[in-house]
Amino acid sequence: MSAAVVFGAGGGVGGALADHLAASGRYTPVYVGARRPLPPGPHQIPFVYDLTDEDSIFKAASDIETPPALVLVASGMLHDKSRSITPEKTLRAIQPEAMARLFSVNTIGPALIAKHMLRKFPRDRPAVFAVLSARVGSIGDNRLGGWHGYRASKAALNMLIVNFAIEMRRTHPLAVVVALHPGTVESGLSEPFHAGVKPWKLFSPDTAATHLLDVIDRLVPDDSGGFFAWDGTRLPW
Ligand SMILES: NC(=O)c1ccc[n+]([C@@H]2O[C@H](COP(=O)([O-])OP(=O)(O)OC[C@H]3O[C@@H](n4cnc5c(N)ncnc54)[C@H](OP(=O)(O)O)[C@@H]3O)[C@@H](O)[C@H]2O)c1
Repeated sequence: MSAAVVFGAGGGVGGALADHLAASGRYTPVYVGARRPLPPGPHQIPFVYDLTDEDSIFKAASDIETPPALVLVASGMLHDKSRSITPEKTLRAIQPEAMARLFSVNTIGPALIAKHMLRKFPRDRPAVFAVLSARVGSIGDNRLGGWHGYRASKAALNMLIVNFAIEMRRTHPLAVVVALHPGTVESGLSEPFHAGVKPWKLFSPDTAATHLLDVIDRLVPDDSGGFFAWDGTRLPW
């Protein structure tokens, strides 16, 4: 048996991913990480970490005993009322503290998870490391502009995924390191922006988890370093 690890399991998409993985019986156990302790579920082992605290990520990784076959980073932020962070519509709205926080949570935190989790990957078996990025982080797909900090932090995350895939290929040829776009999903993160979204383009977390796990199931080592949407299509970086 191999373990699965979900960072961001307290969120909309992350919670649904953790539940699907535990229900599938394919991974034992499923480690579920959040900033505050989650209730233990069947086959789920909770852990606490914060993306802005490397020691907490190191500790979480050290406590995971079973080699992981799947590590999902489902955390992320777009806005934070408590810090007056909202997506910028213009250049004038750029605030250095807000941008630094977005990079800390969306880019540096996942990089630290990769730093401490990828070394635990088996060398002789396939294993997947997938981060939830966002289509708006694609430089090649950017036609609307705006959301400067969020877009840039996800674009930087996408670059790191390419880097990590190159590095892992040398030592772990069966490992797959990818970025995924979940579609627009009903969650706290997307809630302020639902108004303009057509109902059939707004997925429930449960549906999003089904889509993403289908994509993950179809990944092969040659896909490592790729950026994939919820329907399996490859997105431009
Ligand atoms: N929803 C969408 O439409 C959409 C579209 C494209 C991409 N995405 C991406 O999908 C991912 C999941 O989003 P979601 O919709 O599930 O959002 P969500 O419900 O707001 O979940 C975000 C998660 O990130 C965690 N988080 C935030 N700051 C953290 C920190 N400092 N340390 C540890 N965890 C932290 C939150 O933890 P707490 O529970 O402790 O607050 C929460 O569990 C994100 O990366 C997002 O950018 C979402």
